[in-house]
Amino acid sequence: MKAVKITEGIHCLPVNLESYQLFEGMWPMPNGISINSYVVQGDKTALIDLIEDVNGKPADFEAELQSISLAPKDIDYLIINHMEPDHTSWLPIFHRKNPDVQIYLTAKAAPLLKTFGGIEENVHVISDGESLDLGQGKILTFYETPNIHWPETMMTFEQSSGTLFSCDAFGSYGTLNDVYFDDQLSTTQHDFFINEALRYYANIVASFSTFVTKGINRLADLDVKVIAPSHGIIWRENPRAIIDSYSRFASYLNGPAEPEVTVIWSSMYGNTEKLVNNIVQGVRKEGLPVHVHRVPEEHVGVILASAWKSSGLILGMPTYEYEMFPPMAWVIDMFRRKKVWNKKVLRFGSAGWSGGAQRELTALTEKLKWDFIDPIEWKGAPTETELQLALQQGQALAQQVKEFCAR
Ligand code: FEO
Repeated sequence: MKAVKITEGIHCLPVNLESYQLFEGMWPMPNGISINSYVVQGDKTALIDLIEDVNGKPADFEAELQSISLAPKDIDYLIINHMEPDHTSWLPIFHRKNPDVQIYLTAKAAPLLKTFGGIEENVHVISDGESLDLGQGKILTFYETPNIHWPETMMTFEQSSGTLFSCDAFGSYGTLNDVYFDDQLSTTQHDFFINEALRYYANIVASFSTFVTKGINRLADLDVKVIAPSHGIIWRENPRAIIDSYSRFASYLNGPAEPEVTVIWSSMYGNTEKLVNNIVQGVRKEGLPVHVHRVPEEHVGVILASAWKSSGLILGMPTYEYEMFPPMAWVIDMFRRKKVWNKKVLRFGSAGWSGGAQRELTALTEKLKWDFIDPIEWKGAPTETELQLALQQGQALAQQVKEFCAR
């Protein structure tokens, strides 16, 4: 690929990671992901963020640099918005090619630069709001935006073009292939990137939602004309679309989220499964969208996105050895880690011979601010009584969600 021109003197260097990889070593990427670096050129040349040293990707990156007649040695300033290795693991090699480069980063990033990259020379720790004049009207200003999503994160704003290099914030999954800007997207492609942004958000950023809201408020006075994130599409026609989406995603932390219900179910021998259809039909009676995921078949990374977006959760799981069915326990633990909070919740499932799943679920979710309605639980196989209860409680949960969202 070639570097993509944003405006005179500003280029994006997107490199795609393929779909077979797991992001952060654990999240499926069925549509891959792009890692975007940026070059800003005045009299001096700045490179904003770098590339992961994986699968020959640095060669793609260097070819993109070459396409605008640059090599690593030509970079005067390296701006590190974020030290996570998807943007920096090639940094030691880059630094050997250009040991004189001046590196700009936050005070919290400097020790990470040493421990991850072994680099301590020519390091400039920025102060919040500090500017760097590259000449020819190109001025970079640095804003600390901690915990989006690492503690050292910052954003860089180029004043003349109104371009905000936001790093992970406003990013999404999905590779960039021939289409790089929001105004080049069809409606379907636009929806695709918003959905990919949601899944990326739920996987990577969700537990730092309070800081996302703070960061967005902090930058509200900037005249942002272009959002240039480190992953996914560049937003230049309507940057508000992705800013507002991220604001909305962050607001789901304290609820309500959308008036939707996510059903996550698991079953050992089919007894819990027998209630799924009736539960779904009960929700549908109230006209709410319902997303259904089977565990362990579906990865928790996918489940997280619809759970984050839904105000209602329905959890189907049997008891297993006096506790929750282990694949569901993994999902619940991930909900705890990612702060899937403030939900209306129904649980159903076979109690086996003893029960215990409900007890463990209640204990593990104590701090998640979940509002449970009465569970449906039975010993052995369900009877017609439980099948009818499934319809009733599915509908009851949906009613609660509607009331919650109407507040
Ligand atoms: Fe794209 Fe948090 O690194």
